Amino acid sequence: MAGFANKVNVTICGGGNGAHVFAGVSSLVTNAHVTVLDIYENEAERWTSAMAENGFSVNFKNGQRVSQLQGDVKFTVTRDAESVIPTSDIVVIVVPAYTHEIYMNLIAPLLPNNCPVVGMPGQPGFEYQALSILREHGKNTSSIMSVETLPWACRISKYGTEVGVMGTKDEVCYTLVEQTKEKTETVGLDPVQSLQTLLGSKPVLIRVDNILKYTFLCRPTLHPPIMYAKWRIWDGTPLDKPPLFYQGVDEDADKYLSGITDEMINVANALQIRFPDIDFTKVSSMQQWLIDHYSDQIPKQETLLSCLQTNTAYDGLLHPMTRTADGKYVPDFNYRYIREDVPYGLLVIRQIADMVGVKTRVIDEIIEWAQTKLGKEYIRNGILCSVDRADGRLPSAYGINTIEEFINFFD
Ligand code: NAI
Repeated sequence: MAGFANKVNVTICGGGNGAHVFAGVSSLVTNAHVTVLDIYENEAERWTSAMAENGFSVNFKNGQRVSQLQGDVKFTVTRDAESVIPTSDIVVIVVPAYTHEIYMNLIAPLLPNNCPVVGMPGQPGFEYQALSILREHGKNTSSIMSVETLPWACRISKYGTEVGVMGTKDEVCYTLVEQTKEKTETVGLDPVQSLQTLLGSKPVLIRVDNILKYTFLCRPTLHPPIMYAKWRIWDGTPLDKPPLFYQGVDEDADKYLSGITDEMINVANALQIRFPDIDFTKVSSMQQWLIDHYSDQIPKQETLLSCLQTNTAYDGLLHPMTRTADGKYVPDFNYRYIREDVPYGLLVIRQIADMVGVKTRVIDEIIEWAQTKLGKEYIRNGILCSVDRADGRLPSAYGINTIEEFINFFD
């Protein structure tokens, strides 16, 4: 396995599925000194003690097992930011987007000069959120990298000790804001090369230069329409078992998945007319996105439905459900499929649609349903409401109200 010539202090923020895989894989890279920073509830303690008892392993679907034996695990887990951030060479945040602000506020005052911060994934709006928080703390030398999605489809099987990887993406896009440009003489670690070294050969990281374009390559358009199609007419009766999520999609889900993605493409087309020099052609259908990211893991690629239903990376993944007292199941509308993808995804696209005067009937319909489930108000009488930073990542929450302000924000 390729590695670093000298010791590199890698801090991974988070304690969920993705943080587990990344910690297990990256800590075996030569000279990578990996620490997980996990401030959520008692996860740091649970993870530390589970690992001390059982070691740590990442189990890939093809049978490959990346194991670290009990007593010889190469990374540690802490909840103490002060003990780890000031000596970090790179910080990679691996949590749902609704916790990015919490981690950014925690690390910003402690971040060493030039230390890059990576959102993996960043999701739409990570760049202006992270940049705003760093600027508020006078940190103007760190690069910000945003990776379009998590490299893996993965789920923890035993907290702190075992995680399963159902699929690894072939390629993922990223964007980079280099704050150091012309500001300092010294440069920090190259975040792109370092991240690729930590991930290994797959997925390949592909740069998208323009942040506006990158925003449209993220896909908050996958989970909300599947949730909406399944649960919008649910009568409240608990189910005996959770239904399949991706592989359980039907014609109705297809209609909303295609409708919402078509609207995102309409917005990209309007941007293309406004900014002819930016190439938005890669903003493709949901079907094409799945084929680009999972090619050899999808045996039947003929339609969007067949891509979802046969993608082996999605084998057995279920709707997020909560168990009732009598052992039945009700949908968990607070899960990231809505709580993250609507306020940290669809709303960003929706405000940009407003900026270029494109109507989004399906996106609005899904946001209006989701806001009732989340107990928020994002759209009233067809008009976007003002949303606090704590409740979503609309550009307007960061002072970006026009498309020109969006583009100029990163200069
Ligand atoms: P997850 O659902 O496992 O994340 C939960 C974790 O987030 C918690 O264990 C905790 O460590 C942290 N967290 C939650 N609330 C917090 C709070 N209030 N304060 C601090 N920390 C908090 O997420 P997962 O699966 O690791 O996904 C990470 C990101 O990757 C998400 O953006 C997700 O949409 C994306 N993604 C995940 C995929 C997967 O297969 N797991 C596939 C594609 C994308």
